[in-house]
Amino acid sequence: MTASFSMYATLRDRIAAREARVVTVGLGYVGLPLALTITESGFPVTGLDLNVGRVAAVNAGEQVISYFAPGRIAKARAGGRFAASADPAVIADADIVLICVPTPLSPAREPDMSYVLAAAETVAAHLRPGQLVVLESTVWPGATATVLRPILERGGLRAGADFFLGFSPEREDPGNAAFDTKSIPKVVGADDAQSRDLLDRFYSLIVARTVPVSSLATAEAVKLAENSFRTVNIALVNEMKVAMEAMGVDVWEVVAAAATKPFGYMPFYPGPGIGGDCIPVSPVYLAWRARDVGSEAPLIELAARTNDKAPDRIADRVAAELGQRGRAVKGARVLILGIAYKKNVEDTRESPALAILNRLEAMGAACDYHDPYFPVLPVTRDHPHLAGRKSVPLSQSGVASYDAILIATDHAGVDYGLVAEAASLVLDTRNILAGHRPRGTYVKI
Ligand SMILES: NC(=O)c1ccc[n+]([C@@H]2O[C@H](COP(=O)([O-])OP(=O)(O)OC[C@H]3O[C@@H](n4cnc5c(N)ncnc54)[C@H](O)[C@@H]3O)[C@@H](O)[C@H]2O)c1
Repeated sequence: MTASFSMYATLRDRIAAREARVVTVGLGYVGLPLALTITESGFPVTGLDLNVGRVAAVNAGEQVISYFAPGRIAKARAGGRFAASADPAVIADADIVLICVPTPLSPAREPDMSYVLAAAETVAAHLRPGQLVVLESTVWPGATATVLRPILERGGLRAGADFFLGFSPEREDPGNAAFDTKSIPKVVGADDAQSRDLLDRFYSLIVARTVPVSSLATAEAVKLAENSFRTVNIALVNEMKVAMEAMGVDVWEVVAAAATKPFGYMPFYPGPGIGGDCIPVSPVYLAWRARDVGSEAPLIELAARTNDKAPDRIADRVAAELGQRGRAVKGARVLILGIAYKKNVEDTRESPALAILNRLEAMGAACDYHDPYFPVLPVTRDHPHLAGRKSVPLSQSGVASYDAILIATDHAGVDYGLVAEAASLVLDTRNILAGHRPRGTYVKI
């Protein structure tokens, strides 16, 4: 099946002239930077989001995401070619629709495609001939062709004949100062040559480099391969941490030295577990799909389970360290430094720090947290009961009053010198106090 040449040529020419109107469905950590990068490349963009608060904040030019360059959204708004909207009818005016909605795990820890399904219904309701629809959310190989496509085709239009369909995985790394949406190469895949060509032409004008692949499923699999690689390596380094500690060897020193090998090794660092909407999620999607097609991915599943258990192991270690110093965890006061899932981002999704806090409190500890990105804890999917808790300020006397300080997330801008000076017991999952001389007991865990 091939679309008419004139339909293809019309969109090709509109892309070349940067006149193609773009709608991003979802203005989150992925959709918003993507929408802004496309705007900055000269295309007119509308960001569609169901969250009216988000839409209003973006339209008001508010900062919204802390690591954006100051004024980035306001500048895009002032340029007159970028707006946010909560009205799905904007899809009908678009030439290109990019779907960037969440793909989390269900309570049974299986792929939760409900946001993709809802977004697909919305796009289908406004789909018109000649549009290019691109799924950017992380999904299992085969999902675009077997889940999204049938919904889009329900009204009678056919992918590859009446509209174009592609998949392009997001590789956004929030807070990464070295790489952003524009500089990260973009994988583009489609099941027909015209869709692939249009997607490639479009992203070639937006990002530094595109990487075309032969099918939708290949593009979907690329993302899962990247994240599963990280999952397995993070599980590996955390396993080595525990084993090497028992041998009297500091895994941080080992990793730093091993990383000097110019080939065949890539450093991964120990930590309290994994978080965010990507690394904990993608391997589950891959393993689930492997089982679905009669195959298996036992190594990936073991790594995912190992990482899931990491926060509990850290909490148990905190209890053990307290116990060794004659302090029962029940009734102990513990200050957790960093509640976000990784440094320098205001994102708590799947944050191991929250899971550690929860477990410590289940054991009877009284926990506080300090995190400059979260003056107040928001409602989270996994720990809604923690919402409303407030970050405590860091002071010499405050820090000294805790039985233990647990460094969970190593945000820049936190006064670690003060912590080293004042704490009686510091448990460090990030090696961040390595350059300091802690006054009290210092244990890397
Ligand atoms: N955050 C990351 O670092 C990252 C990196 C790479 C890939 N991804 C993937 O990108 C996808 C999006 O993740 P995110 O981090 O941007 O999510 P997010 O939760 O930050 O944002 C999603 C946005 O989509 C909106 N939304 C949900 N359903 C909608 C609908 N039907 N119509 C309009 N808006 C809708 C939500 O209101 C929200 O603002 C996921 O598949 C994720 O796995 C995320």
